[in-house]
Amino acid sequence: MSISIGIHDMSIATGEFVLPHTALAEHNGTEIGKYHVGIGQESMSVPAADEDIVTMGAAAAAPIVARHGSDRIRTVVFATESSIDQAKSAGIYVHSLLGLPSAARVVELKQACYGATAALQFAIGLVARDPAQQVLVIASDVSKYGLDSPGEATQGAAAVAMLVGVNPALVRIEDPSGLFTADVMDFWRPNYRDTALVDGQESIGAYLQAVEGTWKDYAEQSGRSLDEFAAFCYHQPFTKMAYKAHRHLLNYCGHDTDNDDIARAIGQTTAYNTVIGNSYTASVYLALAALLDQADDLTGRPVGFLSYGSGSVAEFFAGTVVAGYKEHLRTGANREAIARRKPVDYAGYRALHERKFPADGGDHPTPSQTTGPFRLAGLSGHKRIYQAR
Ligand code: CAA
Repeated sequence: MSISIGIHDMSIATGEFVLPHTALAEHNGTEIGKYHVGIGQESMSVPAADEDIVTMGAAAAAPIVARHGSDRIRTVVFATESSIDQAKSAGIYVHSLLGLPSAARVVELKQACYGATAALQFAIGLVARDPAQQVLVIASDVSKYGLDSPGEATQGAAAVAMLVGVNPALVRIEDPSGLFTADVMDFWRPNYRDTALVDGQESIGAYLQAVEGTWKDYAEQSGRSLDEFAAFCYHQPFTKMAYKAHRHLLNYCGHDTDNDDIARAIGQTTAYNTVIGNSYTASVYLALAALLDQADDLTGRPVGFLSYGSGSVAEFFAGTVVAGYKEHLRTGANREAIARRKPVDYAGYRALHERKFPADGGDHPTPSQTTGPFRLAGLSGHKRIYQAR
């Protein structure tokens, strides 16, 4: 019998500020229904000047290390699209901030929004080889598009940390996975840009193609059918995309597309993403956190995951929710991470969006804004300086 490996613990973090879509709509004259209904977004997290993927990632991971200790963690995999360095893994800063053992490997993974799923699967492989070990997977991203571009309304920021090990307390990740890769230019970010380039409609089409491709591969290998799943966690660049994707999958499989059935399969997975915005690698796992935090009882039920990263790579896999999972959830802390954000007005958001460190190697302290457990104190001699508060 194969061993049970999966998500043993899970914790989320997001930025200090929140911009309601009403403020964006007021600025650009958009009818608010387009945001609230058309794309399914209410607000977006905005990181403070002294926050980034490292501070959010460390904030998400700290409660996991506090609960389980770090003795068994020999690998940290940090998945991100919004990397802060071309060479050094953001995970090393987190490793340092959390005081993790030096006998560890730390690496950063990139494939747009898909990276955290690769991290999860690689973690499972490592644990299968040595079941005594645990792997800390961190997905952390700041989604940034050009000001006044169509993508602007789909920005956001968040991190999800997951402890992967044997006999998981939350979700057992199953074999096989359905896989799909296609070379498309739907969303990308050249090294010289800090905002993503995107062809919006192309990206939606590419996502839907990937849904078909992963499901076809998954169904051929697993023999499973759609109605076996209690719910579906999709990557949510905006929450309406999950509805589009699920409707597409139902159509592809020749099922009826009843709105109530779709809402039952997706509805509870969108609660965090609709107020946080796109968190790229973290988004599909925020969907899982929202589902587990709200569903009545999913014990023993399979959940379908569809992870999509532009460019593009996608994976469909199943996870079975484990008996007793509710005792291990962090529902209160997850809700507090969202509720504690401070509203920012349009001008404040714009100023944060336009902030950039000078590239002159000088000393550039950041204003003290975050009330989170870690902060980016500044840049000095081209080095990022982090502090635990
Ligand atoms: N009331 C209700 N609905 C309204 C409305 C109103 N007043 N006005 C417009 N709408 C609806 C439209 O009918 C449309 O709905 P459908 O798609 O169901 O037809 C929806 O609101 C959006 O309208 P538009 O398509 O006209 O919006 P847009 O041109 O401004 O672009 C977008 C929307 C393409 C999502 C854009 O925000 C974008 O480029 N976002 C970034 C790219 C992205 O998220 N792509 C998703 C797939 S790629 C991916 O998943 C990876 C990733 O994370 C980036």
